[in-house]
Amino acid sequence: MYTAIAISSPNIAFIKYWGDRDPLLHIPASGSISMNLDGLYSRTQVTFDPSLAADQLTLNGHTTTGAQLVRVSNLLERVRQIAGLRQYASVASNNNFPMGAGIASSASAFAALSLAASTAAGLSLNESELSRLARTGSGSACRSIPAGFVEWQAGDSDASSYGFSIAPPDYWDLIDCIAIVSQMHKPTGSSEGHTLADSSPLQAARLEGAARRLELCRKAILERDFALLTEVVEQDCNLMHAVMMTSAPPLLYWQPATLAVMHAVVDWRQDGLPVCYTIDAGPNVHVLCPSQHTSQVTDRLPKIPGVERILTAHPGGAARLLESPISAPQFTDP
Ligand code: DP6
Repeated sequence: MYTAIAISSPNIAFIKYWGDRDPLLHIPASGSISMNLDGLYSRTQVTFDPSLAADQLTLNGHTTTGAQLVRVSNLLERVRQIAGLRQYASVASNNNFPMGAGIASSASAFAALSLAASTAAGLSLNESELSRLARTGSGSACRSIPAGFVEWQAGDSDASSYGFSIAPPDYWDLIDCIAIVSQMHKPTGSSEGHTLADSSPLQAARLEGAARRLELCRKAILERDFALLTEVVEQDCNLMHAVMMTSAPPLLYWQPATLAVMHAVVDWRQDGLPVCYTIDAGPNVHVLCPSQHTSQVTDRLPKIPGVERILTAHPGGAARLLESPISAPQFTDP
């Protein structure tokens, strides 16, 4: 019986993943770039146990079955195949950030699961192998394996589609101030959303410019150019939401308070504050700024009607093991 514990941070996409070339393997239609969010974690323990008759999942202390267990089990099955292992596993995962907080927990959860499960199975996968494994659980999870600012090269196969670090966390002290405007569960999750992307007449145009935006975002990060980052991040966000709003059926994730924060950010910028917004598949707004301006942003955000709370995060590190694999005590049946 072997067990391992791993932790991983969620990430916020600067250049978005929306739409798959291969939905089963999560090979994306275009590449993406993100920043890991320090201080927010999924902590996942995986134990392969010969006495189990099926995989088991506990999420934030609650036994979980159904679609979530199937998704976890599919990833465990990949690990079993690579390791030549037959045992089922028990998985216990906890997030230190609130579930309904509008921060995608699937990225950190599947990154931590991939590292813990592969280690517990006796494998020592390198970073790109781990990133590929995490991608099969949730696309954006492949970006939570490497540290700091991470690019997911789209690739065209399982072997060529993975995340790698463009710059370490301490390269650029940006802050993500997450304005939570609703903690409600979103009606259409991203997995279903990806399948609708091609039904929008705008997706082709979005994809056509993706390589250029990736290049500009990479340059903005490497040159610590916040004005360029602002331009490309907001445009990419608006393009993704334009696709969402024009797909069939349409997906409208914004609430009135979402738009209020977007307008405020643009106004503050006109007054000289370096700040920009980006929004994932939900109503909450990620407001980015260089760290020296954090207090100006966190003082102003709560004054916008509809903003319920604010979470802040610096660039975060790579997924990591909490302990090296340990052998749990062996129990022999009497
Ligand atoms: C809007 O990675 O959550 O956050 O692969 O189905 O788990 P699955 O999708 P997921 O999609 C993320 C969508 C996004 C943009 C992004 O993070 O790039």
